[in-house]
Amino acid sequence: MSLNFAKRMQTVPRSFIREILKVTQDPSVISFAGGLPNPRLFPCGPLAEAARAVIADEGAEALQYSTTEGHPPLREWIAARYRERDGLNVTADDILITTGSQQALDLMGKVLIDPGDTVVMESPGYLGAIQAFSIFEPNYVAVPLTEDGPDLDALERALAGNPKLFYAVTSFQNPSGLTYSDEKRRAVAELLKGTDVVFAEDNPYGDLRFAGERQSPLFAYRPENSLLMGSFSKIAAPGFRIGWVVAEPDLRHKLVTAKQASDLHTSTVCQRVVHRWLLDNDLDEHIAKICDCYGTQCQAMRDAAKEFFPEEVTLTRAEGGMFLWAEMPEGCSSMKLFDLAIKEKVAFVPGNPFYVDGREANTLRLNYSNAAPETITEGMKRLGQCMKEYIAGR
Ligand SMILES: Cc1ncc(COP(=O)(O)O)c(C=O)c1O
Repeated sequence: MSLNFAKRMQTVPRSFIREILKVTQDPSVISFAGGLPNPRLFPCGPLAEAARAVIADEGAEALQYSTTEGHPPLREWIAARYRERDGLNVTADDILITTGSQQALDLMGKVLIDPGDTVVMESPGYLGAIQAFSIFEPNYVAVPLTEDGPDLDALERALAGNPKLFYAVTSFQNPSGLTYSDEKRRAVAELLKGTDVVFAEDNPYGDLRFAGERQSPLFAYRPENSLLMGSFSKIAAPGFRIGWVVAEPDLRHKLVTAKQASDLHTSTVCQRVVHRWLLDNDLDEHIAKICDCYGTQCQAMRDAAKEFFPEEVTLTRAEGGMFLWAEMPEGCSSMKLFDLAIKEKVAFVPGNPFYVDGREANTLRLNYSNAAPETITEGMKRLGQCMKEYIAGR
């Protein structure tokens, strides 16, 4: 007997991170590999109260099938926040609730990508998007990221090739921690204006800023032909699987049709619990707690890198989010470093799967949100020692 899988599944990478997570199950391993929010910050008490209230007060409706677009008051809450904070001209109608923002990526692939279409990706780029889009068999064009956003010349060349889609994580990017400056946001919007390219901005980390000034999404400068994704995963809890996408009617209607085929609608009860929690609690106060904690964890990682990493290894300067990105000298292999590091019981994600050109990477992603500062220091000490041995032994 043999299984005849669809051709489209043959080129889709398995999530390398999920593979690594198996190795890091061992409790003696210090892991910077996952991308998990800090579970100590999940607002369990207030969420339990919100869940109890929803089932008690709205039980029948909360447990019934519902509309694909999502719970109207939650959509209005999201739209109002964009209007108040970013001056975006959006209403509840412009918002589609999705089962995590990851589902929005899958839906985008379904409605926009035919086999062979060109998709412009940041390099490095978000692995979950690479995986979601790859199912639809695009050709990728990679645009390198610099400290303040994409290389504009490379982006201009990529857009000249008339791609279908440009996907970007503009704030505290996964994996690099990098953020587009306001100048770059405007410049990218200028390059996109007058093209038919769909710009998909994924912004699950934008609120998690612990240094510097708040920024509005790039979407604000080029809303036409654009999508803006958000999520409660990093500011409340990922287990609810509540995300959203802002889209103009033509795009949204197609996304709704694709979502109907996928799951009819996102969990009604989860949407209502999150909405009740938002009404009864101060989200910004909760976000401030998260930022305070991640700021301390990030600083612990930066301080330890300064103390223990070889001088020739550089680190990105993140002002928020959950990740730092380290670069070893040209020619080093982060896969080889991974093999050494795991023997010393410290883990990270080698850069390779974040590049669509399949290169051998000298880069690595380091997550700081899920370990205590003392643990971070110890893990970085072990990793720094491995780097020194690896680089000296080459
Ligand atoms: C850039 C980016 N987009 C989307 C997601 C998916 O998040 P969600 O839990 O909302 O599906 C993640 C999760 O880590 C992410 O880093």
